[in-house]
Amino acid sequence: MRANVIELQTFAVSEGALVPTANEARRRYAVVGLGARAQTFVDALAGPYADRAELVGFCDVNQTRIAVHNRWIAERYGYAAVPQYEAGDFGRMLEEQRVDVVVVTSMDRTHDDYIVAALEAGLDVVTEKPMTMDPVRCRRILDAAEKSSGSVRVAFNYRYNPVHEKVREVLASGAIGDIGSVHFEWLLDVRHGADYFRRWHRDKANAGGLMVHKATHHFDLVNWWIDSEPVKVYADGKLFFYGDENGKRRGLARDYDRADGSAEAKDDPFAIKLAASEKLRELYLEAEHEDGYHRDQNVFAPGITIEDDMAVLVRYSSGASLSYHLTAYSPWEGYRIGFNGSAGRLELLVRENTFATPAEEQEHSTAVQHGDAKPGETEALLTIHPLWEPPQTLLHHELGQGHGGGDARLLESLFGDGDEDPLGRSADHHDGARSLLVGLAANQSFETGQAVDVSALLAQ
Ligand SMILES: NC(=O)c1ccc[n+]([C@@H]2O[C@H](COP(=O)([O-])OP(=O)(O)OC[C@H]3O[C@@H](n4cnc5c(N)ncnc54)[C@H](O)[C@@H]3O)[C@@H](O)[C@H]2O)c1
Repeated sequence: MRANVIELQTFAVSEGALVPTANEARRRYAVVGLGARAQTFVDALAGPYADRAELVGFCDVNQTRIAVHNRWIAERYGYAAVPQYEAGDFGRMLEEQRVDVVVVTSMDRTHDDYIVAALEAGLDVVTEKPMTMDPVRCRRILDAAEKSSGSVRVAFNYRYNPVHEKVREVLASGAIGDIGSVHFEWLLDVRHGADYFRRWHRDKANAGGLMVHKATHHFDLVNWWIDSEPVKVYADGKLFFYGDENGKRRGLARDYDRADGSAEAKDDPFAIKLAASEKLRELYLEAEHEDGYHRDQNVFAPGITIEDDMAVLVRYSSGASLSYHLTAYSPWEGYRIGFNGSAGRLELLVRENTFATPAEEQEHSTAVQHGDAKPGETEALLTIHPLWEPPQTLLHHELGQGHGGGDARLLESLFGDGDEDPLGRSADHHDGARSLLVGLAANQSFETGQAVDVSALLAQ
């Protein structure tokens, strides 16, 4: 087995946008997994980046969802229907359509198959996070990437939020000296947080639980911000709020499996109403006949195998430590971070709303799409506290839409003109693995109660 630590130490510093050179024709893109998130990429490729990109294939287990995307881009951009393929015909699509780049936006547990197949065909890959969801799959991707002439970009949009870029800039400038520790709390509210317990994410076998599916963003940010390698992880996690037993014990549970068509769900603040949102109705309710997938499951029904309250302690190769907490049942959504340095402290507060309103009241708004903060209620406050000096406010303003403005900037980095990227925002498969391994180690620590060596995970 190779020395994984050495392999993971490679750090991407150049932007490497997936743009054609002056002599190249438009690059040919295929998208696999045409659900909600795919829209960000499909819209960009069919719209603002259509002069340098061509959509040549859509692939999914569900053909109804593909047809919805095709109709949307026809309506919005007058785009001709993109050829559609069944999941089993992915390889045929790559050949028939002479694909250059594959965009992976399918369910997490399927990412590795598509990434590896594309890399083996020598193609470039843009994959949504998490890059994958277990150590075996992660190893497969790292091996395939090593042998391939193709590249992997992991779409860590949080790096491209200007507030997060500022944090990276301040830390890299040495303004707070050497970093001794990071304290990081992320709160998902009872609307967005609850959504993980309604969908495929509720089963750990699909996405590795929130330590992998969600916290991969947060661990990636810390790895990037402090420019160091996670070495050891100890964690404690539990299902405290959602699930049938918790729901019954606290009198929150209603007796239904899925909300659509259920009288019990009508006034349940935890129920989502698919029929009331055009997007949710088209993408999921009207696509159920193909795969039987229910996107509106009861968060207090049986079958949940993921945690909703997780505490993690990470030791880094630099000697810094991270104490991290993820809560998925909070009244408000946002995060607080403190960096303790030898010359002072950097503090960030991001508030995406002041309180969550019941899902039912959100039914006609875009709030069902994650990444949308509530205008008028948001706040980003970054302060520096040098030793022996008064604190200074580095920024204080409202948040941008689309993951704090990160989505649009990520798309420009992927599909627009590549730039110098002095902050090293561009993330490759090593970054994807590094962030993933913290979550996987945390999952293992939940089970064993022991601290886990991160590098040992890939050796198993
Ligand atoms: N970076 C972000 O901010 C962000 C936000 C949302 C989602 N995501 C990521 O995007 C991905 C998709 O999430 P989503 O919210 O769109 O979920 P979704 O359920 O709306 O879409 C998933 C799609 O994958 C398809 N699929 C399932 N099995 C498949 C298979 N074997 N082959 C091909 N397609 C298959 C489903 O039919 C569905 O169309 C996930 O990996 C998620 O982590 C990232």
